[in-house]
Amino acid sequence: MPRALITGITGQDGSYLAELLLAKGYEVHGLIRRSSTFNTSRIDHLYQDPHDPTARLFLHYGDLSDGARLITLLTKIDPDEVYNLAAQSHVRVSFDEPEHTGDTTGIGSIRLLEAVRVAGVKCRYYQASSSEMFGATPPPQNEDTPFYPRSPYGAAKVYSYWVTRNYREAYGLFAVNGILFNHESPRRGETFVTRKVTRAVARIKAGLEHDLYMGNLDAVRDWGYAPEYVEGMWRMLQADEPTDYVLATGGNFTVRDFVAASFEHAGLDWEKYVRFDERYLRPTEVDALVGDASKAEEKLGWTPRVHTPELARIMVDADLEALEHEGRPWIDRPNLPDWKIPVA
Ligand code: NAP
Ligand code: GDD
Repeated sequence: MPRALITGITGQDGSYLAELLLAKGYEVHGLIRRSSTFNTSRIDHLYQDPHDPTARLFLHYGDLSDGARLITLLTKIDPDEVYNLAAQSHVRVSFDEPEHTGDTTGIGSIRLLEAVRVAGVKCRYYQASSSEMFGATPPPQNEDTPFYPRSPYGAAKVYSYWVTRNYREAYGLFAVNGILFNHESPRRGETFVTRKVTRAVARIKAGLEHDLYMGNLDAVRDWGYAPEYVEGMWRMLQADEPTDYVLATGGNFTVRDFVAASFEHAGLDWEKYVRFDERYLRPTEVDALVGDASKAEEKLGWTPRVHTPELARIMVDADLEALEHEGRPWIDRPNLPDWKIPVA
């Protein structure tokens, strides 16, 4: 039975990747952070009591800031594949917490690579690289496009990209960078723009809210569907040779397009509800990310099926359904006024 270790298993991508690998017959180990409240809601449906002899999902406490712990875990688990998905992944937050972002999103990767090397584990390694690394370089972007990061997050990802390549070249590690463009789903964190919008659409439709405060509506993104992207990650580690790949849909949509499509799907006119709040602007913006994934299509046979307009409909439907089926979540989780929650 192949064995995989996933850092960031409690995140959007980690949860879909764990599902995929379990369905393929893997034993899956996940790194989770200790927190004072449960942070495993995205993977609770996969959890099995470890006393059950058929259990194939195992969770371990750890953190990318703790290198010694990573060496201990690598030695103990001895995985065939390591997927490094853990990161402080919010671009706007990286301006508020630049040092922490550098420590986890950047240095965290070399701690994990070094743990693989020191533990002497013979595994294949996936690094969650990002289109955010292209930053100010205009689209279309592919594997040969120069990087020009525009945030502490983007700069930290560039560091992780290069150390991954360096461990491939220096130590012969089968290490690959997946340079993924934005990918979303109903499990997307609630402060990323797509989920913020689709969740607000559902709440406005239900009469629970009226105004949605947003930042830059002119930014262009290439939004795909997360379950398809984790399939691409897995394919990268099954290839004959280690190399880096872009995953993207090639779509070219503004934030405004996504907003309009989401409200329209719920039968609402977005212009009646969306307001501007400059606190959602970034000190430096990435104006346009549109990917060219032809290498992944040619070498891995990977092609995205869900494009941005359908993605908006999937996410709006899921948020409408969540409101219907979770009883009255707004009582348990009131939508606090902006000044009481961190701006993101
Ligand atoms: P996400 O939902 O924000 O998940 C991030 C995961 O990292 C969570 O499990 C989080 O744990 C964990 N984590 C954060 N800091 C950690 C630390 N110091 N030690 C250990 N774990 C830590 O992100 P995602 O959307 O699934 O993205 C997965 C990866 O792909 C990230 O590296 C992201 O930067 C990258 N990426 C994402 C996209 C995208 O569009 N989604 C595109 C390109 C690249 P908690 O649950 O405890 O917070
Ligand atoms: N979050 C947020 N909130 N973004 C807003 C808002 C708002 O209220 N209003 C406008 N935007 C704009 C942002 O300025 C940005 O241009 C765009 O919407 C997308 O923002 P996010 O959804 O926060 O994603 P991102 O593109 O900055 O970063 C995501 O994609 C990267 C890959 O390109 C994250 O998932 C990163 O982890 C990932 O690497």
